[in-house]
Amino acid sequence: MHASVRRTVAATALGMAVVATQSLAQDDLAAARKLALNHCGVCHAFDAGEGTRQGPNLWGALTRVAGTVEGFAYSDGFRKALAGKNWDAALLDRWLTDPQSVAPGTVMLYKQDDVEKRAALIRFLESLQ
Ligand code: HEC
Repeated sequence: MHASVRRTVAATALGMAVVATQSLAQDDLAAARKLALNHCGVCHAFDAGEGTRQGPNLWGALTRVAGTVEGFAYSDGFRKALAGKNWDAALLDRWLTDPQSVAPGTVMLYKQDDVEKRAALIRFLESLQ
């Protein structure tokens, strides 16, 4: 095969791979959003400008300090354990596994022992910014 043809073929294959990866990532995120709506949506809104439900709005949660949604009354247990801490993937993973072990006395009643579901939920929250 002529070198420039080979290059074109390779570039096309690469382009297709990139497109496939992007749409996979989008499907993945859409599935993660659905999971989050099902698991957290009763108590949390996710979109900017939405208010609080039983829990605070989670828009931008991974970019902010814990317990800082204005107008939301966090529990004493939550404030004692988490005040001043930054949410990141590791802390969120522990939180979703067992909120009580992170902040004894917190009023968030939820636990997720499936590591893949937690990873998908964290990917979704990371996308909210
Ligand atoms: C039954 C209601 C309920 C469900 C379901 C629930 N949460 Fe919560 N969540 C709360 C409450 C209430 C708080 C505040 C806790 C406190 O003050 O002790 C909270 C707090 C949080 C915070 C801290 C936010 C901040 O402002 O620092 C995060 C992060 C969070 N929840 C993530 C989630 C995710 C992700 C899910 C779904 C996988 C989920 N929660 C499911 C009620 C819930």
